[in-house]
Amino acid sequence: MAEEIVVDRGLEGVNVGETVLSNVEGEAGRLTFRGYDIDDLAPKATYEEVVYLLFYGKLPNQTELSALEATLAGKRALPESTIAVLRAIPHDAWPMDVLRTAISSLAHVIPHKASGQHPSDVDAALGLVAKTSTIVATWDRLRRGLEPVAPHAKLSTAANFLYMMTGSEPSAEFAKALDLYYVLLADHSYNASTFSARVTASTNADLYCAITAAVATLTGELHGGAPSQVQDTLDQLGAPEKAEQFVRDLLKAKGRLMGMGHREYKVRDPRAKHLEETAKQLNKGGGSYALARALEDAWNKVLKEEKPTARIYANVDFYTAPALGALGIANDEYTCMFACSRIAGWSAHVLEQYTNNRLIRPKATYTGPAVHPFEPISERGREPAGSART
Ligand code: ACO
Repeated sequence: MAEEIVVDRGLEGVNVGETVLSNVEGEAGRLTFRGYDIDDLAPKATYEEVVYLLFYGKLPNQTELSALEATLAGKRALPESTIAVLRAIPHDAWPMDVLRTAISSLAHVIPHKASGQHPSDVDAALGLVAKTSTIVATWDRLRRGLEPVAPHAKLSTAANFLYMMTGSEPSAEFAKALDLYYVLLADHSYNASTFSARVTASTNADLYCAITAAVATLTGELHGGAPSQVQDTLDQLGAPEKAEQFVRDLLKAKGRLMGMGHREYKVRDPRAKHLEETAKQLNKGGGSYALARALEDAWNKVLKEEKPTARIYANVDFYTAPALGALGIANDEYTCMFACSRIAGWSAHVLEQYTNNRLIRPKATYTGPAVHPFEPISERGREPAGSART
């Protein structure tokens, strides 16, 4: 009897590898980085502490942390060639397209081996962690017709991003809020962009290739592209009292509410409560926060009536929109901010992949035509106009 072949298009529930970096417990709604609960890290650790944890396997002591902060600060400036690339891009380009190109361009100035690969180690990874925020802030200014601001050596990664974007040091409240966002988003097991990075790394491609692949994969709204669309939804909603009707109409039209639902979490995303609190504080309880809160309440109520068995709750992207918006970050840059944080997790996963590598190469079930003879060109019929080969 032929062996039954199971096709799992979304790899849902399929374990394709191991990691010591982070653990997503979807039923419990818990996220841990190397065993530390995100609920403890979010209020108590800085992004730099989390970067240290991911790369070196433990939380740093004060000396180790200060050294890492200095290393990151020293790596923030972009090479002239990357600044030149950014200057050459049309101002209306999509920021994630720009980030993908700029990250890739960083490799051009790194000496490569005979194979074309660039060194891919913790030092290179820290360079990417430091430079990703600089790219996003530099592009933000260039597209507004402003000159870039040089990085500030004494500020944290998050505070320095706001400094480079605005040209002035952020308030403690803003710096803390963005740092918290960076902590929360730093890693998330084998999500789509991380998996993409690991697939690329598994071919022995270098870190820059793997991270470029990750940035590209993050773009879509089923992954990191959602928060900009959450903001669009909040803008469209306009008033909290319209939320219930909005949700009813959306579900009737079989639409998707961005920022809701997750492949892994079947309860509310554990990062959402921290981002909600931040969004609430930054918006002083009103503005986009009040709209988001009303929308989530309406969603939970209407979903219970319409789809009582569905388990679709707020994910990390839902309160990202009102939080980042209140910090003055442009709507179309929200996914770039995700990348500014996740660069740590992506890089750590790529390095982990190299340590115990095996080429990731799954199978596919062939569903095309059976084997048949080749037709010489003179014997082939004309294809109907407009038909496309796939
Ligand atoms: N709004 C409306 N319906 C939804 C939503 C949503 N946000 N999410 C899932 N559903 C419904 C689907 O329509 C489907 O319904 P059906 O069974 O009646 O056809 C059912 O729930 C299952 O949906 P799937 O897409 O199969 O579930 P999956 O596990 O792939 O969903 C996903 C995960 C893609 C994130 C989904 O919830 C979604 O599209 N959410 C909106 C986009 C979003 O917020 N993306 C960011 C994700 S978080 C992150 O990556 C950082």
